[in-house]
Amino acid sequence: MTPAVPQAVNSRLTHAAIFLVVTIDPVPRAQAAVRGLCGDLAALVRGVGFRVPDGELSCVMGIGSEAWDTFFGEPKPAGLHPFREIQGVHHAPATPGDLLFHVRAARMDLCFELTARIMARLDGVVTSADSVQGFKYFDERDLLGFVDGTENPVAQDSIDATLIGEEDAGFAGGSYVIVQKYLHDLDKWDAIPVEQQERIVGRKKLSDIELDDAAKPSYAHNVLTSIEEDGEELEILRHNMPFGDTGKGEFGTYFIGYARSPARIERMLQNMFVGDPPGNYDRLLDVSRAVTGSLFFVPPAAFLEAAADDAAAPASPTAEDTTEPKPPPASPDGSLRIGSLKQEAPR
Ligand code: HEM
Repeated sequence: MTPAVPQAVNSRLTHAAIFLVVTIDPVPRAQAAVRGLCGDLAALVRGVGFRVPDGELSCVMGIGSEAWDTFFGEPKPAGLHPFREIQGVHHAPATPGDLLFHVRAARMDLCFELTARIMARLDGVVTSADSVQGFKYFDERDLLGFVDGTENPVAQDSIDATLIGEEDAGFAGGSYVIVQKYLHDLDKWDAIPVEQQERIVGRKKLSDIELDDAAKPSYAHNVLTSIEEDGEELEILRHNMPFGDTGKGEFGTYFIGYARSPARIERMLQNMFVGDPPGNYDRLLDVSRAVTGSLFFVPPAAFLEAAADDAAAPASPTAEDTTEPKPPPASPDGSLRIGSLKQEAPR
């Protein structure tokens, strides 16, 4: 069997990115508009991207758990569920998100143009939950001044870390992605001596060289996020980007992690927010506050293209419904359920 072609999960970290998270409004038109966009997204990326040959434009589209239930039903990707809030030493909130668009390019104009086209297609059927413009900052550093991304898996390791395989064969070639927006208290961070900052991260600030194991405290970020199963390291692919608004005094890191199972990212989050052992938490969180948190399934490219066709999607309109797509099963209040995400308590 030919392996399913993934979306551009493993494309390079670029100079610019837009992270766009939207919720789907409870309007009957939403089915048709979202499915139509799924089918045409690759063509939109080609249309915008072809004009700038070295622009490296790519877009990964993710689908949240409730949106999946409403639009695609069963079968469902094994690991897809709403993002689970963590209340540990620090708080990782769960926030609304039905669709994620992770748009990467060498230039912001490409990202901007593509997200504008996406939003035009979804006009009247979605509400933006969050939209962040990320930029590359001096030799791959985050706004805390550390190089971010060094230990990302590359080549085949990256593919193995991110793409679903035989463990969920019906969704092979798909992936999961967790996003969180972090805001930094830079005054507090800058007041910490560099040697202590290095212990918090587990690497040297200027040279990016990893500290010796003996010099790393058990709460170092790279200790708490290094996890194993049966002696094998469980890796994820991070394409974090700095973002900010100097006028508002806002400095942040947009965390985005791809993995073949959300469980490995969730374990890292548990270690960071609750601690391993509990109480031994990630000190980066003393200066970095998570303000969003959402989980999405990233279907293979062909699934998206077929989503516009009835055949590829079990919850799609039936044959007698030729004029207007049939709305998904309504909740007791008559809404499409997707919009209700906005009011729901995090789970
Ligand atoms: C405020 C948010 C965050 C910042 C500023 C940050 C920054 C960093 C930095 C500077 C490194 C060291 C260089 C590197 O290998 O990339 C690193 C490593 C890493 N981070 Fe984060 N990170 C953040 C959040 C997270 C989250 C939420 C996760 C996972 C849930 C995570 C997972 C990892 C992993 C797996 C590594 C590599 C560890 C290793 O194998 O050495 N990070 N991060």
